Amino acid sequence: MGAPVAGKKHPVATAPGRRNLLLRGVQWIAATVGLLFLYPLLRFTAFRVPPKPRLVEVPAPLPLSGVHTSHDFILFGTKEGATAVSRICTHLGCRVNYQQDKEYIECPCHQSRFTPAGERIAGPAQKNLPIYDVTLKKDADGRVISYVVQL
Ligand code: FES
Repeated sequence: MGAPVAGKKHPVATAPGRRNLLLRGVQWIAATVGLLFLYPLLRFTAFRVPPKPRLVEVPAPLPLSGVHTSHDFILFGTKEGATAVSRICTHLGCRVNYQQDKEYIECPCHQSRFTPAGERIAGPAQKNLPIYDVTLKKDADGRVISYVVQL
């Protein structure tokens, strides 16, 4: 073995550089593989099952007014069918009431008003009331025996 020449690097002196480069490559590959396994795991743990719709059954017949008020909704029955609107005001969340004599729904907090179909008429609320699907349960003769509201 000869003496190292000044200005020329000895082959042993470059070994740590190559080793570092290899080590970095292995680290990148390990990180990439780790992310590939971690992503589906995170997706699985973050997965939320959508809540089942809640069904509320209101027995028929409705009162003579054709309106049934429950804790969560107001049900309007007609000869053609039925509609249900939420009782939660779209302004700040107060519980609205149906004004039978005026034929509109009113919020007691800031007097927003809505039609029985849930459409906004006046007041600080900017959105309509949410409406719910209503299914009619009938007997063999075709008479309505109950209203099923899907919340
Ligand atoms: S909460 Fe209903 S109008 Fe304000």
